[in-house]
Amino acid sequence: MIDTHTHINCIDDFSIDEILKNASDNGVEKLIVPSAYASDIDIVAELASKYENVYGLLGVHPSEVKDWTDDLIDKIKECAKSPKIVGIGEIGLDYYWDKSLNDLQKEVFIKQIKLANELNFPISVHDREAHKDSFDILTEFNKNSIVIMHCFSGSVEFMHECVKQGWYIAIGGVVTFKNAIKMKEVAKGVPLDKLLIETDAPYLTPVPYRGKTNQPAYVKYVAEEIANLRNTSFEEINEQTTKNAKLVFKI
Ligand code: NI
Repeated sequence: MIDTHTHINCIDDFSIDEILKNASDNGVEKLIVPSAYASDIDIVAELASKYENVYGLLGVHPSEVKDWTDDLIDKIKECAKSPKIVGIGEIGLDYYWDKSLNDLQKEVFIKQIKLANELNFPISVHDREAHKDSFDILTEFNKNSIVIMHCFSGSVEFMHECVKQGWYIAIGGVVTFKNAIKMKEVAKGVPLDKLLIETDAPYLTPVPYRGKTNQPAYVKYVAEEIANLRNTSFEEINEQTTKNAKLVFKI
């Protein structure tokens, strides 16, 4: 399996070596680690260069856009010379927290989409309670980058709209929650060739570890739940999502 979105630098309960060992003991062969804060960019680039199975995405999360400065564009371009940096993320819109930032979020999102296009990199999109604006901005400004809707949280209808654009749908631990009816419907309906799995660790820990700290090893519970929902085998979900991730990130 490949955990396509995991913040291993934010997991306080385990060391990086423990995280990587647990992951590999549980069949996770590669990890994609996005930056969130501007200050994460160096950390992610360093983790990716140090550990063979770790790949990095660089960008600034919508909730952290106050830290955005345009010179980050050159910094990301410089870091992206490494073959271990494989995309831009996580970027997008988050209207859940501070609504006064909405306009700045849009501006920074567009700048980072243009950067991804220039580098011909895939984009890991964070969209929280901003489905329409995220969709509109991506369809207007994205020219050539593969789009991944990370930790997808929309309806089945919105999922189909995204898939129609050729975008990938990444599903995380929420799908294992008993009351996540909408997510379970999405997981059943995503075309297999557009499906990715992730943990978003240390957040959104899947059942049976819900409430505890998340880690990449637990991505198997996401794959298992999706397999159950689709009446297929764990192996099929594992194999297809791994294939998709390798294609998207060229790894
Ligand atoms: Ni994230």
